[in-house]
Amino acid sequence: MAKKKAQFVCRNCGYETSGWMGRCPACQEWNTFDEFKEAPSAPVDAKPALRAGWIAERGVSKLSEVTRENEPRFSSGIPELDRILGGGFVEGSMTLVGGDPGIGKSTLLMQVSGQAKISGEVLYVSGEESKSQIKMRADRLGISRDSISLCSQTSFEHISELITERRPGLCVIDSIQTLYSEEISSAPGSVTQTREVTAGLLRLAKSLNVPIVLVGHVTKDGAIAGPRIIEHMVDTVLYFEGDGSSALRMLRATKNRFGATGELAFFEMTQTGLLGVENASALLLSGRPHMAPGSVITSVVEGSRAVLLEIQALMSPSSYANPQRMTQGLDRGRVSMLLAVLESQCHSGISNMDAYINVVGGMRIDETACDLAVLCAVFSSFSGKPLKEDTLVLGEVGLTGELRPVSDLEKRLSDAARLGFTACVLPGASKSAASRLPLKIEYIYVDKLSEAIDVLFS
Ligand code: TYD
Ligand code: MG
Repeated sequence: MAKKKAQFVCRNCGYETSGWMGRCPACQEWNTFDEFKEAPSAPVDAKPALRAGWIAERGVSKLSEVTRENEPRFSSGIPELDRILGGGFVEGSMTLVGGDPGIGKSTLLMQVSGQAKISGEVLYVSGEESKSQIKMRADRLGISRDSISLCSQTSFEHISELITERRPGLCVIDSIQTLYSEEISSAPGSVTQTREVTAGLLRLAKSLNVPIVLVGHVTKDGAIAGPRIIEHMVDTVLYFEGDGSSALRMLRATKNRFGATGELAFFEMTQTGLLGVENASALLLSGRPHMAPGSVITSVVEGSRAVLLEIQALMSPSSYANPQRMTQGLDRGRVSMLLAVLESQCHSGISNMDAYINVVGGMRIDETACDLAVLCAVFSSFSGKPLKEDTLVLGEVGLTGELRPVSDLEKRLSDAARLGFTACVLPGASKSAASRLPLKIEYIYVDKLSEAIDVLFS
């Protein structure tokens, strides 16, 4: 048999290559490549399980002849979580919950264990905490459900036996990186172990129809494999966002085989666990400075909802040959491009200043609809002039300084009107869409970046 070629996998993002590299070309992290050894093929008696259910159908059917089965779902007991899952957990599905250490993954899953609308038991397997530590958290959260069984275990073989014997209504594994299979020689948390154990759990979930929720730590130091290397195997991927310093936590569905992606749930970390937040805009804007230069409010659409956000900029004279461009929650490349557009259109003299730009609340924005807001924040900080109070800024900025229309205007503006915003700066191209909305907001239409700067700061 031909010798298998070695594979190297980035621990951080899952990038694969046939040769070792010092720096990952995908995520730019240094020294994150591990050799990935294919595990020995599954034992013969494991194969029927592997082919069970949906995989067993070998025949070919016409699309029109296939009947749609509605996946049986159960509620997690947390409405915000159900919403991003597409209506609750699906039976026999596998969900990955990722996030930085300490952000609230175990807290959320303990709450789900206590409140999920299932008839069987919940098997909570922890490889990180002892039973008494889990009990302490449950007490703090006020959870006393009888049908939660705890198990402090890291051996995959043992856990797999437990799941097969008990057939729980829900199984939580906290965390996947602590599990190991005795059949594989690599260390727990390595790429090989994490992938193989996930594949084993996936077989169990599908063949026994047990929904499994995995916790995956996002790691920066690179000692253990990150959850991205198993994203392709699981049905649903949820990631926690938030800067940890505030109580606001966001949970984003980045992959969902049973629902829409891009939905974002908001939670507040309280003394008694995570509480769903209905009105995220109000929470994100609470405590914002009034009439402060460098602060601009914009609106982003996350899934089916619009949320208002504050963008802050600080411009200061640079002492470096290459001025600093620091961003938090925004793409640095996009911000550099926007700053270049501002410089070329308004000749403001910002090119030799350091720029620090931050999205307040720890959210990440990928939308271009907040381009104009970023540049207004920059100009406001640079000129020391604050924006008029209760003004919303929307608009995409093109390379020639033209302003392009934004989508979902109705969602954004009605949310802003509800929170008392009285004026909105928006591209002239959005005029017909905006004028149809019966809102008590004064619309200020601008076609070019320089016009917007003139209107707002002169
Ligand atoms: P945890 O769920 O243990 O984080 P993870 O599993 O993601 O590593 O919780 C992290 C933080 O949440 C911890 O610093 C304490 C805090 N916390 C609360 O503020 N309220 C609570 O009710 C609980 C259980 C935790
Ligand atoms: Mg934890």
